[in-house]
Amino acid sequence: MTGDPDIPPFFEVSDLRQTLGGHEVLRGVSLVVPQGLTTVILGGSGAGKSVLLRHLNGLMKPQSGTVRVQGVDLGPLSENDLRPIRRRIGVLFQDGALFDSMSVGDNVAFPLREQGERDRGAIARRVDEVLTLVGLKGQEHKRPDTLSGGMRKRVSLARAMAARPDCLLYDEPTAGLDPILSENITRLIGDLKTEFHLTSVMVTHHLGAMRTVADQVIFLKDGVVRYAGSPGGLDRSADPAIREFLAADAMGIS
Ligand SMILES: Nc1ncnc2c1ncn2[C@@H]1O[C@H](COP(=O)(O)OP(=O)(O)O)[C@@H](O)[C@H]1O
Ligand SMILES: [Mg+2]
Repeated sequence: MTGDPDIPPFFEVSDLRQTLGGHEVLRGVSLVVPQGLTTVILGGSGAGKSVLLRHLNGLMKPQSGTVRVQGVDLGPLSENDLRPIRRRIGVLFQDGALFDSMSVGDNVAFPLREQGERDRGAIARRVDEVLTLVGLKGQEHKRPDTLSGGMRKRVSLARAMAARPDCLLYDEPTAGLDPILSENITRLIGDLKTEFHLTSVMVTHHLGAMRTVADQVIFLKDGVVRYAGSPGGLDRSADPAIREFLAADAMGIS
């Protein structure tokens, strides 16, 4: 699925290369993330998925190649110039990255305060709204370290949504969750897309999560895009690397 041809893509990555620790982690990655759809970046451990995701909001700068957000090349931008772009992009990191010294409410309010929101009533209302959205209404006063893994993911999701981003980036949102929690969080991510028309990019090694949410799937191996297209097309791919990945998943060893 390529999205509406009249709407410019949200992200456009072209010939992106990145070397880390002497190892070429991304070897000429090009991809397009259509606006309003969910793109899943699928691949095994060490494929370069997290490194790629970090380029999308300018956390990492390309060694060569370009990353464009709604037509704007991030490469030449200073940290100051990147700030307004990052505000439009919510991020859910792999480990959740919650502040355990702060209450759930303060964690969720963090991006609002960072953007200069000072109206305590408005902050409290928005915190209540997004916690309700993720099924955690009334949990503001809890401490994150007293919550289960699944609840922590929900708090992270609420925090990523708090400042009403246009786009959400997810890094392995189902990692460390049992199959039922994993399915719950994936469904929630799917619901958010449908309800708010968010552009989403989800990095995962989890085929089930991909199937639940993907409009478009990009399969990455050793820093190279081996497939970009519909989830159904991935199943029909003859690429041995993809066949192997699908077979490993079917045997529950991915
Ligand atoms: N900061 C870094 N310094 C050196 N090597 C790194 C760094 N970050 C990632 N790598 C390496 O890059 C490769 C891809 O990493 P990553 O994007 O995290 O993979 P994954 O697909 O599992 O998310 C791995 O071999 C990893 O060891
Ligand atoms: Mg990763």
